[in-house]
Amino acid sequence: MCSSSPVLQVRNLSVAFGFDKKGQPRDGIKPLQVTDRVSFEINEGEFFALVGESGCGKSVTAMGILRLLPWPGAQIVEGTVLYYAGKKPDDAPVDLAKIPLAELQKVRGSEIACIFQEPMQALNPVVTIKKQLLEVFKFSGRNEREVQIPGQARNDENHITAIREMLLQAGFKDPDRVLDSYPHELSGGMLQRVCIVMALLPKPKLIIADEPTTALDVTVQAQVLAVLKDMAEKTGTAVLLITHNMGIVSQYADRVAVMYAGRIVECGAVRDVIDNPMHPYTQGLLAAIPENHSDMRNLRSIPGSVPHPKDFVKGCRFADRCEKCMQASAEIQAKCRSEELPPQRLAGTANAGEEHFACCFAIKE
Ligand SMILES: Nc1ncnc2c1ncn2[C@@H]1O[C@H](COP(=O)(O)OP(=O)(O)OP(=O)(O)O)[C@@H](O)[C@H]1O
Ligand code: SF4
Ligand SMILES: [Mg+2]
Repeated sequence: MCSSSPVLQVRNLSVAFGFDKKGQPRDGIKPLQVTDRVSFEINEGEFFALVGESGCGKSVTAMGILRLLPWPGAQIVEGTVLYYAGKKPDDAPVDLAKIPLAELQKVRGSEIACIFQEPMQALNPVVTIKKQLLEVFKFSGRNEREVQIPGQARNDENHITAIREMLLQAGFKDPDRVLDSYPHELSGGMLQRVCIVMALLPKPKLIIADEPTTALDVTVQAQVLAVLKDMAEKTGTAVLLITHNMGIVSQYADRVAVMYAGRIVECGAVRDVIDNPMHPYTQGLLAAIPENHSDMRNLRSIPGSVPHPKDFVKGCRFADRCEKCMQASAEIQAKCRSEELPPQRLAGTANAGEEHFACCFAIKE
């Protein structure tokens, strides 16, 4: 299902915190930039992962795409988010960072849907699952046309049939029992599968899933991700999966962008990045994946932690944690500490035609 036509192109997206209600620096203090010219592109039907440790700017990037950043406080200070709605061939993309809010609201939920870490946040605890899933039709663009069909009951019945079908696809053997339940009557894994169905019902072109399995038991994480992957593939929906887990990336994603301290440091087809990781940070994340249970004692973690944006330094932000830098020549070390490197295309990657970029001075050493 995956094609090379883009559905989303994020270009140089930078977000800063510290603005007041008027969009001016709060108390005259320079806002703190937390993401720095983030760029990546997601193709139609593709499973794309954004990976990095806690605090590196994954959620801020996701919220920036749909302008769901905290307000007052945060603001996009640079960049574009081109969304290819593709209603007609050759339709130009719209820039989600700039279109009027009313237009953006038509895209949110129905064309680009979200799944969050905690399913209870997305569901109303005092309303049945059936009612909540039916609500989706009320707010999606498709229903505006469908409500014109006379006979609301029959309309609801059509929707229930579609919902039942999707619940079956999501692995529920008894969809009617789920429909009659309240959220507290279902487990975390079941609720997250309901959220996947809810996100897919309006037939979005893209789902943004921000750590959708982090709050779940390890045993049900794989089940929920398999349902997301399978249903997205069947419906041709692209997925932006946000995770800190390289194991999940290697198992589910087609392409990946690795993020560190607000910047994309490596991006490429998952096979290329896993087989030939070029950035020392990516190498560190991969060394932390257990290949089997007997390996657990030999796992390597990256010493230190992601710096807070107020501590971002000039040059490579990974330098303080980078073994390669410590072992590199004095010339490279000086560059690491002072210069910024634009992404470099890597030659000789396994998947011809796929681009593989990394930002590191030591790659060619
Ligand atoms: N509301 C906020 N006010 C100020 N700074 C914030 C706010 N939200 C996020 N940040 C800062 O932005 C940076 C990126 O945060 P973000 O939540 O995007 O990280 P993340 O990669 O999603 O981490 P996690 O894996 O823990 O979810 C962090 O340094 C964080 O402190
Ligand atoms: S640029 Fe230097 S400090 Fe940064 S990852 Fe590469 S070698 Fe390490
Ligand atoms: Mg996050």
